Amino acid sequence: MAFQHPYIRIGGLTPEKLDESKGWPEGEFRVVLDEKQGCSSTMFHQILAPNAVHHRHRLDNCDEQYYILSGHGLAGAGPDRVEVHPGHYHLIPKGVEHWLVNLSRNDPLIIIGLYDRAPSLGATGCVHLGGVTEEDMNAPRTLDTGRLQYPLVHQDAVPMVKVSKDEGWTQDYFCEPLNRSHGAGSCWMLGYFGPHTVHMKHRHDRCEEICYILKGRGLAGVGADRGELVEGDVHYIPAGCEHWLANLSDTEDLVAPGWYIGVGGLDESGFAYNGPVTEEDINAPRTGKL
Ligand SMILES: [Fe+2]
Repeated sequence: MAFQHPYIRIGGLTPEKLDESKGWPEGEFRVVLDEKQGCSSTMFHQILAPNAVHHRHRLDNCDEQYYILSGHGLAGAGPDRVEVHPGHYHLIPKGVEHWLVNLSRNDPLIIIGLYDRAPSLGATGCVHLGGVTEEDMNAPRTLDTGRLQYPLVHQDAVPMVKVSKDEGWTQDYFCEPLNRSHGAGSCWMLGYFGPHTVHMKHRHDRCEEICYILKGRGLAGVGADRGELVEGDVHYIPAGCEHWLANLSDTEDLVAPGWYIGVGGLDESGFAYNGPVTEEDINAPRTGKL
């Protein structure tokens, strides 16, 4: 069956060939979404091999946001030196020198992220600034997040955003780990769906949305397409396009973070409720992935 809004299974994407002499770390880097899907920004998935170093660089054309999926890293951002763990969101503003080291000798460090409003990897304005040194590695860590210059937020400390069941929000909670209060030009949000909860049909007239399945599996509708997404899958939703997401499991939770691109929060996204997800929607033939 033809489909207009295919979802993306990250593991099936071919890694980029990146030049380690320009500071890229040993590992794998995949472009998940970019201008090829009509997206204004570039979403990436990166695996840093054990002890790999992504050396000093800055992005002259865009902010970067990234999230630690697994592993243990040391991140530098301007004067900040922070150890990062699963659940951390980090915002690196345009032009700020930054770097990332996998501190584990055994395990990969895995992240997802966004080059905000850079429509391709080549459009980020990346400038390599040299190696990470022993001095960087041994520098005192910035342990008090109140002393950080750039936002680092752990998901366990993010307050809920109040949403209305009358507007189709039946999932257990919604929050915004990075939003305009952190200076983010694109809001990184997260929906947490207990068994059988649904985010009903809606659209965002003022922003594109990216939806990533962090945990669980869900049935997603985007336009006329219906896809069953599992952990690690991504859906791109153009501005104004109707979409919804349902957790069909009796027992498992569904956790789905993502971005409202170019707006600082849900309240700026042009949210409009389009109506309930019906039995017919749930039972419709599934369409495919990219
Ligand atoms: Fe949405």
